[in-house]
Amino acid sequence: MPLLTILPSGKTIDAAPGTSLLKAILDAGEQLISKCGGEAACGKCHVFVIEGRKTISKIAAAENARLDTLVGIGSKSRLACQALLGTEPVTVELLGALSG
Ligand code: FES
Repeated sequence: MPLLTILPSGKTIDAAPGTSLLKAILDAGEQLISKCGGEAACGKCHVFVIEGRKTISKIAAAENARLDTLVGIGSKSRLACQALLGTEPVTVELLGALSG
């Protein structure tokens, strides 16, 4: 089973545990803006984690603080640059115009 499924396209990619969601999403050929280079500073990489939230890395203070500044945040929100894949399958939803 692929480690990561990306919605709405349904693309899947196998990625090593410890890979950031941002890197895996870009490696899959999907578009995701990362203006700050993955420093939890721009908020452009906001995604929803639909499945597998427990297997990815926990939200640290910097991510939490940035998420608080964004529009459209929910309980599934993560910054893809900060969330690291674990060993279980994960499904994310790209938010397009909502992010940022
Ligand atoms: S790339 Fe800027 S917050 Fe994730």
